[in-house]
Amino acid sequence: MLAAMAMGDLDLFLSSVDNALRTLSGSVRSGRPRPEAGPGVELAAQQRRLSASLMRVNHVGEVCAQALYQGQALATRDAGLRRHFEAAARDETDHLAWTQTRLADLGARQSLLNPLWYAGAFAIGWVTGRLGDPVSLGFVVETERQVEEHLAGHLDRLPPEDRESRAIVAQMKDDEVRHADAARERGAVALPAPVRWAMRGAARLMTATAHHI
Ligand SMILES: [Fe+2]
Ligand SMILES: [Fe+2]
Repeated sequence: MLAAMAMGDLDLFLSSVDNALRTLSGSVRSGRPRPEAGPGVELAAQQRRLSASLMRVNHVGEVCAQALYQGQALATRDAGLRRHFEAAARDETDHLAWTQTRLADLGARQSLLNPLWYAGAFAIGWVTGRLGDPVSLGFVVETERQVEEHLAGHLDRLPPEDRESRAIVAQMKDDEVRHADAARERGAVALPAPVRWAMRGAARLMTATAHHI
């Protein structure tokens, strides 16, 4: 029994390492096709630069989403909840792959700080998971809600001509709403306001940095 548990933990640990390497090396494949936007329009240099910055920020967000869900899945002792987190993480893998290919279309590079973002988000996910499943689910609700708001802001800022990026961001936004609703239904508790403010502050720091680096 003990040996079996240890094997289970080892499997989980190895799958976390595997996920980190795949995420950071860019060797992820989406399960769903990238959202279609019709025939592409040639973007002016300035539009392309703006789109690249915004999509780099979104790619960093998806790197963090991978790490958070991995950390939370590793921390829970509830196998059902772990499967729930893993299912949401598969959508996040789609988002990661879509933003990654869109960045490449735009001729832009990924954030140089991705390993740092991944490590930080994984630690936050794991610690949050250790605070108990209702708190962990509450963290998902608040994160996804903030991401949804952030993506809505990007739909205002992305050039109207950049239909490809807009189609990706719109689908991601729908998925994040679904993730928040599912976590709420599974018994999430509301996080205290100071925690929500701290999360917002951390997200601001990340987005401001990823805009440039
Ligand atoms: Fe996402
Ligand atoms: Fe999500």
